[in-house]
Amino acid sequence: MGFVKFHGESVPLEMHKVRIVQKLNLLPVDERFGCATAAGNNTFLLQNADVFLDMLTDSGVNAMSDRQLGAMMVADDSYAGSATYARFDDKVREIFGTKFLLPVHQGRAAENILSQVFVKPGQIVPMNYHFTTTKAHITLNGGAVEEIYRDVALETSSEELFKGDMDTAKLEALIAKHGADKIAFVRLEAGTNLIGGQPISLANMHAVRKVCDKHGLILVFDASLMADNLWFIKTREAAYKNASIRDITLEISSLMDITYFSARKLGCARGGGIVMRSEDLYKQMRALVPLYEGFLTYGGMSVREIEALTVGLDETMDEDMISQGPIFIDYMVRELEARGVPVITPPGGLGCHLNALKFLDHVPQSQYSGGALASALYISSGIRGMERGTLSEQRNPDGSEPLAQMELVRLALPRRVFTLSQVKYAIDRITWLYENRKIVGGLEWIEEPEILRFFYGTLRPVSDWQQRLVAKFKADFGDSL
Ligand code: F0G
Repeated sequence: MGFVKFHGESVPLEMHKVRIVQKLNLLPVDERFGCATAAGNNTFLLQNADVFLDMLTDSGVNAMSDRQLGAMMVADDSYAGSATYARFDDKVREIFGTKFLLPVHQGRAAENILSQVFVKPGQIVPMNYHFTTTKAHITLNGGAVEEIYRDVALETSSEELFKGDMDTAKLEALIAKHGADKIAFVRLEAGTNLIGGQPISLANMHAVRKVCDKHGLILVFDASLMADNLWFIKTREAAYKNASIRDITLEISSLMDITYFSARKLGCARGGGIVMRSEDLYKQMRALVPLYEGFLTYGGMSVREIEALTVGLDETMDEDMISQGPIFIDYMVRELEARGVPVITPPGGLGCHLNALKFLDHVPQSQYSGGALASALYISSGIRGMERGTLSEQRNPDGSEPLAQMELVRLALPRRVFTLSQVKYAIDRITWLYENRKIVGGLEWIEEPEILRFFYGTLRPVSDWQQRLVAKFKADFGDSL
C-alpha cells in the first residue's frame, strides 16, 4: 500500500520483508560496454551475472512467498492423478468459478493450443492489442490479428485510466465488414503489455461480452497480467471501489468463454493454464495437451511449480500483494516524469515504460531507437530493460518493415524484488542518460532471425556513439560505477 509521510512525501511501502537474498554485481562501465557488444546490443543475450538490476521482464522472476516455497516441499510426483494437480484444479475453480482446466507449460503454449484449435486460414482475431507470441501463433495458423483499441490507447502522455479498453464500435464495424464466421475469437488482454501495461475496465469487458453474445463469438481472456489489472479495477473504477478482489475476479471470469494465463506472471511461479466453463470447448482443446505439453495432470509443469502456483493464485486475491507492482511503478513513473523524462502515463502495471521516440527523437525509428535506448541504458547503469518497439515486431510477408506504433523500453519491476533505493538508482541513471541523450545513436542488424527476431537477433551501433557515451560517463562519474 502507498504510505504518506508526515511532511507530505508519498512513498510506496513494502508489505513484506526480505528473507532470502541474491548477491548482485555492478560491473565498471568499460566492462558493461564490452558485454553489450558481445550480446549484439540485444539485452536478451546478456548474461545475468553481468547485469545489476534485471528489469528485462516480470516473467518467472517475481519474488515468491514463504508459503509458496513451503508448499513446494509437499508436492505429489505422480504422473497421473497427482494430489498436487487436484489442489491446483480446486483453487482454479474457486478463483475463476470455472469447471474445466487444462495445464500448460507457459502462456504461449496456451496460445499455441487456442490458435491451432480455433484459428482457420483467412480468419481474423480481433483484440485490444497484440502480444508478440500471441500474434506469432495466430499468424502461424493462417490467421490475422486486428487491433481495435480506442485512439487514447496510443497516447503516450495521458491521464486516461483504462487505455487497454477495446473499442466496441470498431469491433461491431469489423464484424459487419467481414462477417462473424470470419472471426476465430475475440481476445482481451489484461494489463495490455505492449502499450505499457495498461488495464482494461470491467465495464469494457461487459460491453465486449455483449457484442460477442450478439454475434455468437467466443471471448478469450489473456489473464497473464490480471493481478495488476485487478488492482486498477479496484482503485480506478468507481463501481468496484468496495468490491473484493475475489468478487472482481469471479465477475471477470463469468464474462469470458476461455481464460488463459502465463503463470510465470500470474501466480508468481512458472507454468500456465487454460480455464473454461464449457465442456465442449474443453474437449476441443484437450487432445493437444498430452500432444504438446504432457499428461493432463501436469501439462509440462513440475509438480513443485504447480504447488507454488496454487498458493500464488490464492495470494493474488490479497490486496497487499497485488498493490506492490503498481505502487512501485507509480513511484518510478511519477519521479521520472517530474524530471522531464518521457515515460508512458498514467503509470500502468508490469513496469515503467520509457518512450524511446521522444527520448531519442534524433534517432530514426528505422534505426531501432528503442533497441538503442535499451543498450545505452545498460551501458550507463547495468540495468537490463527490454525493447518493446520495432525490433519486437515481425516483418510483413513482403519483407518490408512496419515501424511499431509504440517504441518503448520497458523496465519491468518484478513484484516484491527491488527495494526503493534500487528504484532510486534507476531513476538517477535514467535521468543522467536523458541529459546526455544526444550522444546516443541508432543500431543496425548483424544477424536478423525470421521468427521472433528480438529474442536472439544481434545488432551493432551505426557509429562510435557507444565509445563516446562511455567517455562522458567516466568524465561525469569518475571512478564511480
Ligand atoms: N500474454 C501476455 C500478455 C504476456 O505478457 C506473455 C509473456 C504471454 C502471453 C506469453 O506467456 O511467456 O509464459 O509464454 N510475456 C513475457 C514478457 C514474455 O516478458 O512480457 P509466456
